[in-house]
Amino acid sequence: MGGRIRVRGFDGKLVFITGGSSGIGLATARLLAREGADVVIFARGRERLENALAEMERDRKREGQRLACRQLDVTDHHQVTRVMEEAVREFGTPDILINCAGRAYPNYFENIGYEQFDETMKVHIYGAWNTVSALYARMKERGGYIVNTSSVLGFMGIFGYTDYAASKFAVIGFSEALRSEAKRHGIGVSVLCPPDTDTPGFAVENLTKPPETKAISEGGGLLQPEEVAEALLRGMRKGSFLIGPGSAGMLYRLKRFFPWLVDLFSERAIRKVTKEK
Ligand SMILES: NC(=O)c1ccc[n+]([C@@H]2O[C@H](COP(=O)([O-])OP(=O)(O)OC[C@H]3O[C@@H](n4cnc5c(N)ncnc54)[C@H](OP(=O)(O)O)[C@@H]3O)[C@@H](O)[C@H]2O)c1
Repeated sequence: MGGRIRVRGFDGKLVFITGGSSGIGLATARLLAREGADVVIFARGRERLENALAEMERDRKREGQRLACRQLDVTDHHQVTRVMEEAVREFGTPDILINCAGRAYPNYFENIGYEQFDETMKVHIYGAWNTVSALYARMKERGGYIVNTSSVLGFMGIFGYTDYAASKFAVIGFSEALRSEAKRHGIGVSVLCPPDTDTPGFAVENLTKPPETKAISEGGGLLQPEEVAEALLRGMRKGSFLIGPGSAGMLYRLKRFFPWLVDLFSERAIRKVTKEK
């Protein structure tokens, strides 16, 4: 079956990015625009999409490069099917699909209602499923590349993230199984697992973070979305499955080979906060 599927360059490639109007998705869209890719970003809010498109325009490599935005709620299966069909008719089948739509509202388990759990699963795992299933048959015709965005919380469950971690673990499982199936069609699959990254979404996340969660992540550093975007493009060039920017690669190995050390560290941080209360 040969080696890994890699992206050999981004110039002239057509890329669809969900969640492309802000944070990591926008930084990726801008970097791809600079690389000469045709980029279509998708998200719900029109104003943020239009502002993001204006930023991408400033990064375009050349005249004639197609940069566009479309409104889309990834949680709505029928809407995703329709909007993706329209986008394929208008721009063509994407060479690369990047699922980056998402958000986090950390809290104690007992404060996370069924509605939040439902929405979290819908945006992260159903969202990725919806876009991949809308485009897979087309992408199979000539191969391509799919990236789903998980998180370090996709391989380690951390205090305060019961709904989020459940959905991001699911994204890794989905991506791993899909990578195994898609390879025969010339489609590569990666999963992006960023650590804490300084985005508008992260600012919202901090509003509800329990002190124990803050204590665990304290000192872990904060990446810039541009650094995550650079790591993502590097990972696609290598055809890596798990793309772990910054400390994420080290955390993955730590969790895998020394899980007791990760538990010890987080229990200490939790105990410190409990004593202070
Ligand atoms: N920042 C971090 O520390 C961090 C760490 C690990 C993983 N991640 C993951 O990285 C991804 C991007 O996060 P970010 O921090 O860059 O967030 P962000 O700045 O809040 O951007 C999120 C993007 O997703 C879009 N979006 C949200 N819900 C959507 C929906 N239902 N349908 C379509 N688009 C939707 C938003 O636009 P609209 O709201 O207008 O739709 C926006 O474009 C997420 O999957 C997040 O879980 C982030």
